[in-house]
Amino acid sequence: MANYIPPEFISEVLTRVDIIEVIDSRVPLQKRSGNNYVACCPFHNEKTPSFTVSPTKQFYHCFGCSAHGNAISFLIEYERLSFVEAVETLCQLVGLSLPENATGPVHNTKQYENAYKLMSTVNRYYQQQLLQHNDARQVNHYLQQRGLTKEIIEKFSIGFAPSGWHNLENLFKNNTNVRKLLVETGMLIEKEHKHYDRFRNRIMFPIHNRRGHIIGFGGRVFVAEDNPKYLNSPETMIFHKGKELYGLYEVLQENRRVDHFLIVEGYMDVVALAQHGITNAVASLGTAISKEHLQTLLRYAPDLIFCFDGDAAGKQAAWRGLDIILPLLKDSYRIRFMFLAEGEDPDSLVRKLGKDKFTELLQSATSLADFLFNELTRGIDANDPAAKAQLKEKAKPFINKIPAGIYRELLMQRLAKIIRIAPERLNAIIMDKNVGATTASTKTTQSSKFKITPMHVSLILLLQNPALIVQLPAAFSAEELTLPGHTQLAQLISLLKTNQISQLTTGAVLEYWRDQDDYKTMSKLASRQLPIPENGVTTEFLDSINRLQDMQREVNIEQLINKASFSGLSPEEKINLQNLILKKVPEKEAK
Ligand code: UTP
Ligand code: MN
Repeated sequence: MANYIPPEFISEVLTRVDIIEVIDSRVPLQKRSGNNYVACCPFHNEKTPSFTVSPTKQFYHCFGCSAHGNAISFLIEYERLSFVEAVETLCQLVGLSLPENATGPVHNTKQYENAYKLMSTVNRYYQQQLLQHNDARQVNHYLQQRGLTKEIIEKFSIGFAPSGWHNLENLFKNNTNVRKLLVETGMLIEKEHKHYDRFRNRIMFPIHNRRGHIIGFGGRVFVAEDNPKYLNSPETMIFHKGKELYGLYEVLQENRRVDHFLIVEGYMDVVALAQHGITNAVASLGTAISKEHLQTLLRYAPDLIFCFDGDAAGKQAAWRGLDIILPLLKDSYRIRFMFLAEGEDPDSLVRKLGKDKFTELLQSATSLADFLFNELTRGIDANDPAAKAQLKEKAKPFINKIPAGIYRELLMQRLAKIIRIAPERLNAIIMDKNVGATTASTKTTQSSKFKITPMHVSLILLLQNPALIVQLPAAFSAEELTLPGHTQLAQLISLLKTNQISQLTTGAVLEYWRDQDDYKTMSKLASRQLPIPENGVTTEFLDSINRLQDMQREVNIEQLINKASFSGLSPEEKINLQNLILKKVPEKEAK
């Protein structure tokens, strides 16, 4: 089974962890009456808090966007961790370690741990070479000439991979296991059963993930005629270029709170900016900026400045960035674009201007809306009707990518003004293909049509109040049910009966479903609000169980009657049917 960590262990972790602590350290929570905590939802844009966390249920739920889950889900969603990473993070918090004997990804975790350890050893070796190697003088001279001090070299853990083809193999004394891992992490290249160092005679920039592990390298030549100028680690099990950003770890180390990020193009830009006290720059790693990169940054700060070179490539990269960010836009975001003069990059410019002037210059960055309209209206005469139609067509796909909200409204109004058309008319024209808007509206109708059955009520109440299990009538057997949802109910009841119920919270209960098809259904039920006062929960639960039994009786009667007319009943079945009908009578009379 994939992701196998024993469920009892996960339950144990969830029992020890407090979801309030986990969330509050990332999204500050406020205490509300009752014992719930609230915050503005980190998963959608809002001004009044509808994100609620329950310490008793160990569960969060947003009334705005329906995000919900336990501490593990929160870390997966908020920090974009894998399941195992999320469990690991919680383990660290409560001082547990993942069980040794577990199989699957836990074994994988070991492999990851080994890879991280190895990369860190390799980097220490590179750092040492920068201090000690015979060729280090020239490298240090180069770095110095680029304005980097010892402190900043240290802060970014920059090193030197000397020339030679077998430095790493020698370093690890040809250990076969290590060699294998060196190949897997991209540090060694394997060719016809021979191995050689990928990085030779290069300045080494280690790339950290957000947890501080080294996951890859960028290696830069320091002799003008060598090429390629930069060599990057390939994609490996620990290094995903579309996900990781150079400098993010360092930014987060340096700043408790980041209010905005600078997105730059190169390693040296990040380092040179930091050298000048601008410690909020990150770079994508020799790849175009991705949606995941931007989502990651926006989790930390709603304010991004793309700071690209003044050349055609820089413009193109910025336009690509704009295109990717449109669907992610929220009203609270501030996205800007800074175009540097031809031939400049942030590195050269900050060295020329210094921190203050550079920061001042950033104030003149172009807003996303200006950038978008400047590009769209380039070469278009807004007085020419044909051109106006053309502009409208050009703008449509861009505006349609933006989620509904004030921001989109503003852009529409601006477009309407340019092409001199009533905003409402433009709205109608543009909205006709708006996928975002249609899904949103179908969603609401769907949820309002959702009909709550007694089975739902039983499941919801039991999920939200696992302690109710002791109230369940002894005679009730979920195994005898055939109504929709009976499997889930039976599973839930047997789970609660075999566990120390005092220890299972909603969050922990749900964890048992994570890898199952029903996970979504169960977690939705767990976050469903029923209008039941707290002191009515038990009565309501018992009532729903009663109604389940009644409904089941009806079903059974109908089945037997059908069978009677079709093939006849055995004597036993006849008695059975009689009993069922008898049980039904008092209830009917009561009504
Ligand atoms: P540039 O080649 O634009 O940077 O590469 P630059 O300013 O001239 O070089 P420096 O500042 O002197 O070091 C910008 C970024 O593009 C990627 C690297 O991430 C680099 O930081 N790149 C560039 C590569 O991956 N490979 C290359 O061969 C060149
Ligand atoms: Mn540069």
